[in-house]
Order: sequence, then structure tokens, then C-alpha cells
Amino acid sequence: MKRNFFIACALLLCCAIPMQMAGKGKVKFSAQEKVELNQMIEKALGNARNQALLMARELENQEGRLPKNVDKNGKFNTSDCFWWCSGFFPGILWMLSEDQPQNKQLRQYAELFTQRVEPVRNEKHSHDVGFMLNCSFGHAYRITGDKAYLPVLSDGARNLAARFIPKAGVTRSWEPNKKWKNPVIIDNMMNMELLELIGKMEKNQRYLDIAESHAKTTMKNHYREDYSTFHVVDYDDQTGEVLHRQTAQGYADNSAWARGQMWGLYGYSMMYRETGDKTYLKQAQQVAKYLTGRSNWPEDMVPYWDFDCPDIPNTVRDASSAAIMASALIELSTFDKKSNAKRWMATAIKQLKSLASPAYTAPAGTHHGFILLHSTGSFPANSEVDIPLTYADYYYVEALLRLKKLLNN
Ligand code: GLY
Repeated sequence: MKRNFFIACALLLCCAIPMQMAGKGKVKFSAQEKVELNQMIEKALGNARNQALLMARELENQEGRLPKNVDKNGKFNTSDCFWWCSGFFPGILWMLSEDQPQNKQLRQYAELFTQRVEPVRNEKHSHDVGFMLNCSFGHAYRITGDKAYLPVLSDGARNLAARFIPKAGVTRSWEPNKKWKNPVIIDNMMNMELLELIGKMEKNQRYLDIAESHAKTTMKNHYREDYSTFHVVDYDDQTGEVLHRQTAQGYADNSAWARGQMWGLYGYSMMYRETGDKTYLKQAQQVAKYLTGRSNWPEDMVPYWDFDCPDIPNTVRDASSAAIMASALIELSTFDKKSNAKRWMATAIKQLKSLASPAYTAPAGTHHGFILLHSTGSFPANSEVDIPLTYADYYYVEALLRLKKLLNN
């Protein structure tokens, strides 16, 4: 009886805590590889800590502000909490603080910057509440277990679920505009993690159903035969019909915008972790195969901003894509069969080594505390081209910590 009670509690706890990574390592490393990788990781994390603290000190007294980017003129641009990236910096601080619990400053700053994101709980016009809240409050709750963080996540999930379009089976990304009625971008797969988390925690089957419906519909309508993805799919909310398949941030409607491919890869690996549904594992495998088999990779495996940009190699990279891909592949390597796992891990390690090198890592004490250089927000809009961006830093730190965990378990 007592035993059953403990098993039930353990199961409940497993469902209630968002898992950064559920699988166990399948790739074996030699002792020498472990030493070398651990050295690389610790150096990169030490640098990330120093940079994050530098940024936190600079922003500490700027009420409500969160980092956005450093532009080409070296200007540090910040945002209020409603910019889609507001959760990434608090998330970086939480992840680094979890890695080094004795560092009280990291923890204090994680709490401070997380509180700045709190008003997002009332945001009803953006699908990005998933990014904003799960990357800040989600980590805060996961790491501290403090239930005071939950109502904010719960409000965010409710507002995200309200964007679901039943006839189309997807959650609207952007508000209707001149070009699109109900645009859904591949990036939105990432927001489903918030619905998975709160759906399980609150036993709200509707949220879980929405996440599943969104993921399966996106698989059907966003993906091409070769497992590359469109960026934007526009839906008719009355009939559910697909109206357009286009791009906003990519080179062309039928091209492979780099970051979009990575959001999809990460999103399906995450959905497999959260649901155990093999359909998602298969999708993530196929996307990983497509990506690793693509032409137009540079030697260092940090992709150009769009795989089909005709100016390659004379165009810019997107370090954020490499960071998201590395983090996703490390997780996928724990789910997939051994032969694939090795391939995913080798690619991720190659990408992390590149990002940790002086070619991509900002020199210590520079760039207002950003960690990585050379990311691209929107090339077609000439916005945030070849500069440091918070999400590159976030997924880089996450990937380093995921690898560290696997190496040392
Ligand atoms: N979700 C916006 C982007 O990836 O640029």
C-alpha cells in the first residue's frame, strides 16, 4: 500500500515537472573524449556566466528592461517584456544558476529578470507567450519547485489555448493582417511545450489535445516531401482550408529558412519527449536526416541564414540556428536508435565546438554580455543581421548543459 503510494507520488512528480531532457545517453564516449568535451563545456559555461552577469549588472537598474540585441554600431538595444524574446535572458540565468547553485548572484538575477516578464501572463495577442513564459517562469518553477510561479504559467497557457482554431486544428501565430488571415509559423511548435506542461499539471486534457492537434496538423501542412518546412501556412478559420504556404523571414516561399527548420526539429523532439508518440520521433528523425544531408553547409556547421540563398557562401550565418539544432540533436540522440544517435551527437558536438570558438564567441567583457556573435533575425527585412541575439545564447547554454549532463551521468 505504502509502496504504491510512493510509486504514485513519483509518477505524479515526473508528470508535473517539465523535463529538460527525458532520455538517457546512448552514445558512448572514450575517457579522452570526455575530458576534452568537459574542458570545452566548462570553459564555455564559465564565459557564459561572466557575460550573463555583465549583462545583468548593466540592466539591473533599468526598470522593466530585457536584452534584445547589440546592433552593428555596437548599440545595446533592450525591450520591454512583450517582445517575443523576453524570456530568454531570465532562462539563461536560471540554467546557469542550476549548474552552479553556490553562485547566489546568478540566482538573484534569475529571480529579478523573471519578475520583469510577469505581465506577459495577460498577453492575448501573441503565440510567443510559450517562449516568453516557459523559458523564464518555466525554468523558475522547474528549478525551485516554488508554486508561486505557476499562476503566471497557467494564465499564459490559457491565453495560448484561446488562439486555437478548431476548424483548422492549429493555434494561430500572428494576428490577421493584410497578407494573411490566420498565419501559423513553424516556430509555433516551440510554444506547444507550455501547453504540454500546464496541461499535465492541471490535468487539462484540452491543452494536451490542442498541442497534439497543432503538431499533427503542422506536420501535414507545413512539411514538404523532403522534410523541409515552409515558414508560414495561412488557414481559413471557417473551413480549415490552407490558403497560402509562404515565407516571412526566409529567402523564398519554397526555400529552407534555416531557423524555421530548427524550430521544427526541436519542436518534434520535444513533442516526443512529452507524449511518447512515435509519430513525433519519426518526424524529428526525418527532419534531422534532411538537415544533416543538406547541401550548402559550411565546414563549421553553422548554417547560412537560408539553405537555399543563392548568395551562399557570400552571405551571413545564423548562429542561433546552430545552437537550436545542437540542443535538439543532443536530446534526439537520447531517444533515437544508436546508429542515428551517434550521427546526431557528432553534428551537435561539431556545432558546439564551432560556437565555442573565437569565430562565434564574443570576446570576454564585450558586446554588453551577449555570449555569441553572428546570428540573423530577419535577413529580408534587413533586421538583426549578423549580430548577437538572446535566443542564440539561450539554446547554446541549454545545449552545453544537455551535453554536460550526458557526459557525466
Ligand atoms: N520566432 C521568430 C524567429 O525565429 O525569428
